Amino acid sequence: MSNPYHFQTVKHIVHGAGSLNLLPEKLALLDTPIKRIALITQPAIEALGVIEQVVAGLAAKDVEVLVVRDVEPEPTIGNVEAVFRDQIAPFAPQAILSIGGGSVLDAAKLFAVRLTNDQPLREWLGIDLIRNPGVPMILVPTTAGTGSEVTPNAIVTLPDEELKVGIVSRHLLPQIVILDASLTLGLPKAITAATGMDAFVHSLESYISTKANPISDMFAMESMRLIGANIVEAYEHGDSIKAREAMMLGSMYGGLALTAAGTAAVHALAYPLGGMFNITHGVANAMLLPHVMAFNLDAIVERLATVARALDLSGPADSADTAAQKLIDQIAAWTAAVDIPQDLRVFGVSEEHLDALAVAASKVKRLLANNPKALSLDDTKAIYRRLLP
Ligand SMILES: NC(=O)c1ccc[n+]([C@@H]2O[C@H](COP(=O)([O-])OP(=O)(O)OC[C@H]3O[C@@H](n4cnc5c(N)ncnc54)[C@H](O)[C@@H]3O)[C@@H](O)[C@H]2O)c1
Ligand SMILES: [Fe+2]
Repeated sequence: MSNPYHFQTVKHIVHGAGSLNLLPEKLALLDTPIKRIALITQPAIEALGVIEQVVAGLAAKDVEVLVVRDVEPEPTIGNVEAVFRDQIAPFAPQAILSIGGGSVLDAAKLFAVRLTNDQPLREWLGIDLIRNPGVPMILVPTTAGTGSEVTPNAIVTLPDEELKVGIVSRHLLPQIVILDASLTLGLPKAITAATGMDAFVHSLESYISTKANPISDMFAMESMRLIGANIVEAYEHGDSIKAREAMMLGSMYGGLALTAAGTAAVHALAYPLGGMFNITHGVANAMLLPHVMAFNLDAIVERLATVARALDLSGPADSADTAAQKLIDQIAAWTAAVDIPQDLRVFGVSEEHLDALAVAASKVKRLLANNPKALSLDDTKAIYRRLLP
């Protein structure tokens, strides 16, 4: 018997290579007619040539579009506020469309609720602090990915505290998600690696979360199966639409899993690496994953063994211990295969930083609460130290 749990998700998911072309007609799914839309994107996406097509398609439906391209990668709270004040608020859009990686999707989600809530973003840090629903949102991910398109979360960087913090609210779920893997065919290798590993972390952390439940387990398992079978292929042969579609679906399932169960200590320890050393979110997660799982091992050996067997990493002859260890080894092998470093010194981290990192990680209580084992400051330091071999 499982404990009661609650699962909420987006209204519409449109899936398939080329489905971005359906965007103008899908606007009819929204409850109110839309004539002014802000399109939040990134220069790298404009370079793909898709933004012009989208703007033309919307113009053909008499929709005026403001293209916003000034959200920074892994945006600071100040960047999100400034773009809202200078561009979004004066245009007063009736809906928000975003085409991009997790960074712009997260900012777009905050813009949608900022339009209907006159509160500074700082007051929203935490869970369920946004009062009013926002304007409708349509999200189109171009990395695979954060799963942000289906999560009620937005992550901002607080430069003063050298930390990344989550804003969690049911009002951050979009009305329409368009999953078009053809947008990821040209995703550079390093981004394919980091975002693909991030998606795997979402699913494995959800699977071993103290809040895991049958719905999160189902999405997490299928996500890990898809990503495990395709991440190296997507990295080595980025033009494989089959691998890219698998990664895109796996990433969305990861977002659904984490919405239902939450991520845990890997994400908690990754945030200070992003905040203090600018280490890309997915890279920090990938580096930490095998070491946090090794720390958790005695509490979750059966669960890790189940994953190892489902991913064909282990056969019936293996004990649970052996199977679990095979999964941890395979995670390290994937990380190496996609050229993610295993040494934090590459990013300027050394022994003298470990106290500050551990203290910062200990503040991410929302995620540490989901970890199957409690972490003392010494435990946390010991995990970081394993990345200073
Ligand atoms: N909301 C959530 O649930 C959630 C979950 C995990 C992570 N996040 C957050 O998401 C952010 C990371 O997002 P991300 O990993 O998607 O990376 P990103 O959005 O920062 O993008 C990384 C880089 O890739 C480029 N890019 C994106 N798509 C491309 C494409 N198709 N072709 C070429 N270049 C492309 C971008 O311009 C950018 O320079 C972090 O701030 C992280 O904390 C949010
Ligand atoms: Fe993540």
